[in-house]
Amino acid sequence: MTAPPRSEAEAEAEDYRAVHLAKGAHYDSHLAEAPFDRYMATWERRHLPSIVRRLFPHGPKRHLDFACGTGRITETVAPLAEQSVGVDISPTMLQEARRKCPRTRFERVDLTSEDPDLGTFDLITSFRFFGNAQESLRDAVLRALVRRLAPGGHLVINSHRNPHALFVWTQRLTGGGTGGMDLHLPKLRRLLRRHGLRISALQPIGAWMYRDRLMTGTEPDGELARRNEARFGAPWLAAIAPDVIVVASRQ
Ligand SMILES: C[S@@+](CC[C@H](N)C(=O)[O-])C[C@H]1O[C@@H](n2cnc3c(N)ncnc32)[C@H](O)[C@@H]1O
Repeated sequence: MTAPPRSEAEAEAEDYRAVHLAKGAHYDSHLAEAPFDRYMATWERRHLPSIVRRLFPHGPKRHLDFACGTGRITETVAPLAEQSVGVDISPTMLQEARRKCPRTRFERVDLTSEDPDLGTFDLITSFRFFGNAQESLRDAVLRALVRRLAPGGHLVINSHRNPHALFVWTQRLTGGGTGGMDLHLPKLRRLLRRHGLRISALQPIGAWMYRDRLMTGTEPDGELARRNEARFGAPWLAAIAPDVIVVASRQ
């Protein structure tokens, strides 16, 4: 979970586009092996269907999963949508996604530099992307996604590298750093606002986890997790949660 610290300049110099090009074969198993990644993935999968049904009681017509990777989120949302499209620039990640979601159309494309004929979408998802991507890529992606958002459409993303998460404050008190994480909630809100989007709903995950040991030692399906996710799931706790699902809509 804790990455070595990197400065803002280093993060900007490193193009996130290249990071997963060859990682497809191992991405899912790495996620499953890292306890807190597994925790977040479990709770994201648990919350997403009800978030989508709340936004689209009859299901979204057209869904785009941007930076779909191995189809982790695609396979949760696609069954709820009439049509689903996944895009990513990594051929190895897409290979896994195609295997998991045979009904979904997948395209190897970078929407920040190419303009394929994909049409517009009522629902666009993008998970484990914005917290990792450098600032200029975040902006370029949002510019591209907003153009593809149909009127009345919604963007549902997550932010899983929050430097204001409770456990990071605890780490700081004991001399630790933020591991290069920079996307706290006010910054994400400003980023979305720059692209004409406002946050309309927030679902925090793990807001109660105030130290590393809880994050690495909590069974996602256990009683403690269920009780505390219910107790600490209020939107205002998103500011201190290590992971948050964000619904954004046009201002
Ligand atoms: C951490 S993975 C997340 C995959 C998936 N969304 C998930 O939540 O498991 C990030 C993905 O972003 C993709 N990516 C990075 N830059 C991209 C770009 N400009 N266009 C499309 N995909 C991109 C990478 O190839 C990688 O598959």
